[in-house]
Amino acid sequence: MQQAAIDLLGKADLITPMALRVAATLKLVDHLEAGVTDLPGLARVTRSHERPLGKVLDHLVSLGVVERAGERYRVSALGAPLSSRCDHLGVRPMLDVEHLIGKAELAMVDLLHTVRTGAAAYEERGVTLWEDLNAAGGGAPGMDAFKRTAALFDAEAIAEQFDWSQVRDVVDVGGNSGAVAISLLEAHPHLTAAVFDLPCFGPAAREAVERARLADRCEVISGSFFDGLPPGRDVYLLSAILADWSDEDAVRILRQCRRAAGPTGVVLLAEVHLRADHPDPVHRTAAALRIEASMGHPDRTPADLAELAARAGLRVTWEGRHTPVRSLLALRAETEHR
Ligand SMILES: C[S@@+](CC[C@H](N)C(=O)[O-])C[C@H]1O[C@@H](n2cnc3c(N)ncnc32)[C@H](O)[C@@H]1O
Repeated sequence: MQQAAIDLLGKADLITPMALRVAATLKLVDHLEAGVTDLPGLARVTRSHERPLGKVLDHLVSLGVVERAGERYRVSALGAPLSSRCDHLGVRPMLDVEHLIGKAELAMVDLLHTVRTGAAAYEERGVTLWEDLNAAGGGAPGMDAFKRTAALFDAEAIAEQFDWSQVRDVVDVGGNSGAVAISLLEAHPHLTAAVFDLPCFGPAAREAVERARLADRCEVISGSFFDGLPPGRDVYLLSAILADWSDEDAVRILRQCRRAAGPTGVVLLAEVHLRADHPDPVHRTAAALRIEASMGHPDRTPADLAELAARAGLRVTWEGRHTPVRSLLALRAETEHR
């Protein structure tokens, strides 16, 4: 029994994960690599209190993340990914609590909020992740990680399966940095598009559109989809949007699309279905929980989506071939709905 208690507390330990986050946030490994290798020096360059920093270093030594020789510390092979030189691996940004990715990761401490409310854990802070990113601004450190530079999760199904031949223009609602709109425009040269997203993604979307030499066919519009959308376009695409939101918010977004699409436009719902896929049950269930805690509703079925659409006054007029991670539903306004 006593061993079970020790084992359980070992699994629930917060100090080791937080010591690693302190090391990542203070960029301790960068300073070690730059030759600042003693405690007073490290406290000075990281503007930290020497006594607790010393205890963090002691713990990192016992974990094998850094090594100690006399009064000097150096990075071990295990600690090397904490160098900013390795930020492309994503380890340090994920552990840096002042980095936007690290902040999102740290929201997992509010898992209870998700379990009690069904909402993303981040929202325990009183804002959504997207609102926080928007407040931080497009140039904030870590924003790049939230810019979609490629169309993901079988997004090519959107260009391939839907019949775009009669469509003139499409609004990519929540189009981020334009990756999906660009892939659509490249596949269908007669189309024009608008990428609609929060202001923080505007500059990245404009840059991507210009890089793809599509500026004459693609405008970038900044705004919130809760406040209204540019009206009168043929198609309003929602790619990987509703999973972030509760049923109530998803219906609000769909209503805005219906309003903008009017009686003739189409709302094309290209929803993602995220599932954890790992052979090890501990990794798999942890990943499933992480997905659950990160978004409003990660695994709605096409039937759930059709029900939400009906609440927003939209009916399904076409259904694509669903892939394991993507479903496609075309929706039109119910004529009698107000
Ligand atoms: C998961 S990403 C999907 C991006 C893209 N549609 C795709 O398929 O890759 C969700 C997008 O919704 C955007 N978003 C969140 N809240 C928004 C709002 N209130 N108004 C407009 N866009 C919003 C985010 O900025 C983000 O780009």
